[in-house]
Amino acid sequence: MGPQAEQPKLPIPGVQNLIAIGSGKGGVGKTTVSVNLAIALSQMGHRVGLLDADVYGPNVPLMMGIHETPKAIGERIQPLEKYGVTLMSMGFLNPGDRPLIWRGPMLHSVIQQFLRSVDWGELEYLLIDLPPGTGDVQLSLIQTAPLTGALVVTTPSDVSLEDARKAVNMFGQVRVPVLGLVENMSYLIVPSTGEKLDVFGTGGGKRTAEAMQIPFLGELPLDPQVRVGGDSGSPVAIHGEQDDRAEGFFRIARSVEERAAESRGAKKPTIEIAD
Ligand SMILES: Nc1ncnc2c1ncn2[C@@H]1O[C@H](COP(=O)(O)OP(=O)(O)O)[C@@H](O)[C@H]1O
Ligand SMILES: [Mg+2]
Repeated sequence: MGPQAEQPKLPIPGVQNLIAIGSGKGGVGKTTVSVNLAIALSQMGHRVGLLDADVYGPNVPLMMGIHETPKAIGERIQPLEKYGVTLMSMGFLNPGDRPLIWRGPMLHSVIQQFLRSVDWGELEYLLIDLPPGTGDVQLSLIQTAPLTGALVVTTPSDVSLEDARKAVNMFGQVRVPVLGLVENMSYLIVPSTGEKLDVFGTGGGKRTAEAMQIPFLGELPLDPQVRVGGDSGSPVAIHGEQDDRAEGFFRIARSVEERAAESRGAKKPTIEIAD
């Protein structure tokens, strides 16, 4: 990225916290984390929206089990709602297996429309599921949206971590605070023996977060029920915080709640009040 003038970042009316969820690689569980985090935050009493900005592989409709077409009122697109989460995805507008072929300027404009022409309403959190990697969509979005911060999802494997570091650096270069690194598929509990199996290695997420001086938000186990929940449109978080399958996502949701408040606080000028 060359030196470029900073573009104005217009706030999205009604949206308090805008949080992007990124990863270096696809397949690490970014969408799984996005949908479960959105549902968890909603169950914790927040008003939550989820924008599926993965225009190349919009999986949010499948994972949330919703396949309607949003309506427009005048120029404004009306988002859909499921499990208490307000939703918008390219998958609603282009369902099925045919890919849309995007070029740079079109991408920029569709993302802007998703942010600014959708009636998001009053939201405490609008989460954005980014496409994997550090390309045009990510840059266009993070340079123009007033992001509170970003989460980066990785697995403990070296190849995933190598790419996660690039994603962290991308956010750093455009001065978006990284609220934390989430390590997904950290281990598998073998059902027959209860043994903990480190499928993709161990400790890599925590070490990487420490080395890059960003918060480590914790580990999520590899759990077949998480995959089934996603494939069937019933993400495990709908079962609530007390449920074993969902507990990890709520833990991360609570950290996000804290870090977002800190990140917003850090941006405000501090006023000393003498008594
Ligand atoms: N913790 C997990 N345990 C089991 N399966 C998972 C877990 N996280 C993700 N998956 C599954 O792995 C696949 C890829 O996840 P996905 O969220 O689509 O990744 P990404 O959005 O990063 O490409 C999906 O089938 C999903 O259900
Ligand atoms: Mg995805």
